[in-house]
Amino acid sequence: MGRLDGKVALVTGAASNPGLGRTTALRLAAEGAKLAVSDIDVVGAQTCAQEIQSAGGDAIAFQQNVTSEDGWVEAMEAISSAYGGLDICVNNAGIAVLVPIESMTLEEWNRQIEVNLTSVFLGCRAAIAAMKKREGGSIINLSSVAGIVGLQTCTAYGAAKGGVRIMSKSIAVEAAKYNIRCNSVHPGVIWTNMQAQATGLNDPSALEVSPARIPLGRPGEPLDIANCILYLASDESNYVTGAEFVIDAGMTA
Ligand SMILES: NC(=O)c1ccc[n+]([C@@H]2O[C@H](COP(=O)([O-])OP(=O)(O)OC[C@H]3O[C@@H](n4cnc5c(N)ncnc54)[C@H](O)[C@@H]3O)[C@@H](O)[C@H]2O)c1
Repeated sequence: MGRLDGKVALVTGAASNPGLGRTTALRLAAEGAKLAVSDIDVVGAQTCAQEIQSAGGDAIAFQQNVTSEDGWVEAMEAISSAYGGLDICVNNAGIAVLVPIESMTLEEWNRQIEVNLTSVFLGCRAAIAAMKKREGGSIINLSSVAGIVGLQTCTAYGAAKGGVRIMSKSIAVEAAKYNIRCNSVHPGVIWTNMQAQATGLNDPSALEVSPARIPLGRPGEPLDIANCILYLASDESNYVTGAEFVIDAGMTA
């Protein structure tokens, strides 16, 4: 028996390897969920779906730009025709463009709000409509420690992630009447392509992980986040909604 047997899950931003979406999709599939994986990078999404299938799971992949309203309609149609409904939605896709406020352009600001916050609104709205038909579901939104505390060069990224944090709580309150739960996950420093790009490093061993910064003294693995998302996706968390899960090795403690 898998912890997600009989459930259908969408994970956005599942192409990146190493990435939180891909690892989450594989983890949820390993526990019995049927997966829909999407990304703006369709080849990467297809690769993720093939990995799930090779391991014996069910998966479909499609291209999706999470900022597109029409794209969300198409995504829900694809999931409905493949699996007949949706139980779990992981709004994971995101970008990190870390720029000092004094040199940040309005275009950079708008892009980060669009990809990191507006997309999550669109995803939650679409998921609620689909989950109402199943009389329940679980939405998991990827925020960040940058949505909880101030960090250098994180004006737009932090504003978007802080928005995801409080939006998730509002949605939890509003969607509870449909038995739909909504929680946010707040990773600290996890080695992925985003982390490599944001830091300009090729190797996690070069990350700044002193205990003064990260009490456990090491970066996290994508699986550390995927395991938390698995819990939130499963019925084990059926009394948990509107909560924020900080997975940061003590960084913000
Ligand atoms: N890695 C970390 O340390 C960390 C920390 C805190 C929060 N997060 C958050 O976790 C999530 C996943 O991060 P990651 O580290 O795996 O990032 P990543 O860059 O490795 O993967 C992100 C994926 O999102 C996709 N994507 C970007 N824009 C998109 C769009 N418009 N439409 C569809 N797909 C799009 C990318 O193609 C990529 O595959 C993000 O929301 C990120 O902000 C990550």
